[in-house]
Amino acid sequence: MELTVLVDNNTQKDYDLLGEFGLSILIEDEYRKILFDCGYSNVFIKNAYHMNIDLADVTDIVLSHSHNDHTGGFLWLQNLYKKLLKVGFVINNKRVVAHPYIFKPHLDENFANIGFPGDENSISDFFELTYTKEPFKITENLIYLGEFPASDSSEDPDESALVYTSKKGLIIISGCAHAGLANIVEYAKKVTNQSKIYAIIGGVHLLQKSDTDIKKLGIYLQRQGVQMIYPCHCCDLRAKIILSKYLTVKEAYSGFKLSV
Ligand SMILES: [Fe+2]
Repeated sequence: MELTVLVDNNTQKDYDLLGEFGLSILIEDEYRKILFDCGYSNVFIKNAYHMNIDLADVTDIVLSHSHNDHTGGFLWLQNLYKKLLKVGFVINNKRVVAHPYIFKPHLDENFANIGFPGDENSISDFFELTYTKEPFKITENLIYLGEFPASDSSEDPDESALVYTSKKGLIIISGCAHAGLANIVEYAKKVTNQSKIYAIIGGVHLLQKSDTDIKKLGIYLQRQGVQMIYPCHCCDLRAKIILSKYLTVKEAYSGFKLSV
């Protein structure tokens, strides 16, 4: 399995990669090419282009939840495919895996929709929509977890995550972790019936958490034997420093790759 961060808040590469407040990760496993989230805009498409990654043959698009820093780029991708179709490219059907509430509007305090930028009718025929609240196998070792039974917050019941069962242990790939990282880890262990956790990568939802809450999470992750965490997207230096007292914290950013 090879994982490439197409967009994150930061980048550390010395070529033309961009960062934005969003997340998009490409996972290549078996013969499938899975796009996990689409960032906020078309930045993930630009970054993929600069990394020589072809998005035309993506087989699956998995959306962690509806917030537009994860789904905003979806219609940009759809437009790219439409343009490619027009000039004669073959665009195979793509499976879209998401929670049934993916198109439900999410209003912010100014009543602006910060959910998916469109509705089900705006989705082209070449996307095959697969809604599920249950765990769903994307490849033999990659599982979409579906709805978490326990959640730290009731506002985002639609958020899910991916888990990859590697020989080194579980790799948890998180979008924003509104449900709480500990809940995600517990559910990933239950679904896979495995308890060894190799790594966690993705959004950790720690920007607004107190030092005490982050410390509690660090202690929990240490007790779970999590070997390393790559906190990206919704994390800051303060949270990384606190977590680093309990487990290995590594950087992930636009252009970062992880292979197992
Ligand atoms: Fe987010």
